[in-house]
Amino acid sequence: MVSPVKTDFAGPRIDKGLDNVYVKETSICFVDGQRGRLLYRGYDIRDLAAHSTFEETVFLLLEGRLPNREELKKTKADLAAGRTLPPFVLRLLRSMPEHMPPMDVLRTAVSYLSNFDPERDDTTRAANQRKARRLVAQFGTVVATYERIRKGHRVLRPDPKLGHAEDFLRMMSGRKPDPVRARMMDVAMILYADHAMNASTFAATVAASTRSDLYSTIIAALSTLKGPLHGGAIEAALRGMEMAATPERAEEYVLGTLRNHEVVYGFGHRVYKTYDPRALIQKEFARQLADLSGDDRLYRIATAIEETVVREIGSKGVYPNVDFYSGLVFQGLGIPTDLFTPVFAVARIAGWTAQVIEYWEDNRLLRPLDWYVGPKDLVYVSVDERP
Ligand SMILES: CC(C)(COP(=O)(O)OP(=O)(O)OC[C@H]1O[C@@H](n2cnc3c(N)ncnc32)[C@H](O)[C@@H]1OP(=O)(O)O)[C@@H](O)C(=O)NCCC(=O)NCCS
Repeated sequence: MVSPVKTDFAGPRIDKGLDNVYVKETSICFVDGQRGRLLYRGYDIRDLAAHSTFEETVFLLLEGRLPNREELKKTKADLAAGRTLPPFVLRLLRSMPEHMPPMDVLRTAVSYLSNFDPERDDTTRAANQRKARRLVAQFGTVVATYERIRKGHRVLRPDPKLGHAEDFLRMMSGRKPDPVRARMMDVAMILYADHAMNASTFAATVAASTRSDLYSTIIAALSTLKGPLHGGAIEAALRGMEMAATPERAEEYVLGTLRNHEVVYGFGHRVYKTYDPRALIQKEFARQLADLSGDDRLYRIATAIEETVVREIGSKGVYPNVDFYSGLVFQGLGIPTDLFTPVFAVARIAGWTAQVIEYWEDNRLLRPLDWYVGPKDLVYVSVDERP
């Protein structure tokens, strides 16, 4: 028998922010926030950044193991072939209103893309794995193509001979990147490919738990990634550096921000309470790009901001997260600021799809509770009698 509800109960403990709530077991991604370690399927992110490619990482996340030579070749070929967009989607991109935020363009395009997926209504695991590869292949083309269209430049077709990251930069800028920059983009995409049960992955998982379709889960993820406390932080962090204006004024910029009880974007993390290992890799790339360009003003501002934040609030576990130096890297690779978050998505689509497919193996509707604190005995009065 169900026991009666106790009316004198003061209320449950509310896990605002769901800080310590686990929603599934996973073998995809492990974040050790105390030691600053990140693993994909058991492999350390530093090893993957040093030796892997985005294509190999996609296979690793989706299949659970590193590919053999043939499998890697096929993954590269599948992604290369899949980069071409259906003509209707190209037409949709051309029809987007001027100044529409690129993140909204990507979200709209994904909604539309689902109609052209030959397996849209097939919800088997095998079909979802193929859909995931198609989404991974197409995300970069959508973002690069929209950039060409809004700048009034000729749209470039994908080049199947190039790697995924390299071809993204070429389709976006019109120029094949040099090997150093192509590799930096490849590594940045590896770093952003997954990150456990973060907010956008959780949003995708909530949508997945209702047995919605794969494309819909990704639209939920994109909507969540956009915010400045999540993927939007890359853009906000770079804006912060620009506001600081000079390395000498960086300290005052941070102190002023903290005095106003505002956050310094690109710092702090729900799980990492030390350096995010990805931030250290991006910091080194940012330094190399500053050297290559001969302009290290923003890099020096960034390191001065980092020094002050760590000195002031490092004791609270606040250190640079991946987004802090990524803005400098993306800018150094010629990516416009408002494309930073969409580019994050171009990589994270691999992790989102892998996580959703994993959740479906042991699905349970995600349906938490909220504690009602409003009135309970109001008497309804007709509109004519209301004051
Ligand atoms: C990501 C973020 C929301 C995580 O927040 P969280 O898990 O709720 O962090 P906590 O509440 O545990 O933070 C501990 C303390 O550090 C402070 N803090 C955390 N990040 C901070 C930041 N970026 N700037 C200033 N203070 C920060 C908090 O205000 C809190 O202070 P308090 O103890 O005096 O109240 C937060 O760090 C943040 O807003 N960062 C900036 C946005 C960003 O870079 N997002 C990308 C994340 S990858």
